[in-house]
Amino acid sequence: MKTLNVNIDHVATIREARGGKEPDPVATAILAELAGASGIVCHLREDRRHINDRDVKILREVVQSKLDLEMAAHEEIINIALNLKPDLVTIVPEGRMELTTEGGLDVAGNPDKFESLVERMHGNGIEVSFFVEPDKKQIEASLLAGADMVELHTGNYANAKGELFNDELEKIKIASFFANETRLKIAAGHGINYLNIKPLCLIPEIGEFSIGHSIISRAIHVGIERATREMIEVINTSTLHRSLNR
Ligand code: PXP
Repeated sequence: MKTLNVNIDHVATIREARGGKEPDPVATAILAELAGASGIVCHLREDRRHINDRDVKILREVVQSKLDLEMAAHEEIINIALNLKPDLVTIVPEGRMELTTEGGLDVAGNPDKFESLVERMHGNGIEVSFFVEPDKKQIEASLLAGADMVELHTGNYANAKGELFNDELEKIKIASFFANETRLKIAAGHGINYLNIKPLCLIPEIGEFSIGHSIISRAIHVGIERATREMIEVINTSTLHRSLNR
């Protein structure tokens, strides 16, 4: 079974547009869970452009499924995570000027740094996922660093058109197959919507999806509970389709 983790950053983005109290991403998290989300994801950025320290503190108290704190490997945020004790941290690269996370982490380029990060998190009972390109070298490096999971970056797949779409899909298939031969759990995320998720559901090795923008966008029109339920329905029907055609 493939599960859905809902990223609530964009609710906080709307709140920050006016700097007030609404909409509250904590309320969104509770409703998404009630609608069947298997986890709640939020990204505490160094610049606090959306999710802030108050949010993560309350989320830690109210989230009953799995709290996945997305974060860069920056000392200030590492210390917050060590105190907060989310169930999982997903380590991402972070650029001040970027609109959103723009690509996978270079775990292979700095193995010692990431190994020590994993040790510190594990020391506090926190699992670690590395957000990486669907690339064998980065998956191997994540394994060596002691990660529990890799989240494969699907942003290039989501943006690809025509032939390139199949090329990007193929990269994700190969990477998932490769990662599955190790002990790593496999998630996929970035740019996934109600349509482009279908081919990803046919990849047996992917266990989890981390999705924000498309769900929050739909929630503006139909509400977060329905938007969450509809994504879960697409995942379940597309996965079932694969089992029937096997
Ligand atoms: N996974 C990671 C690691 C991300 O950084 C993001 C964006 O915050 C997502 C998943 C969700 O991406 P989207 O909002 O495009 O669904």
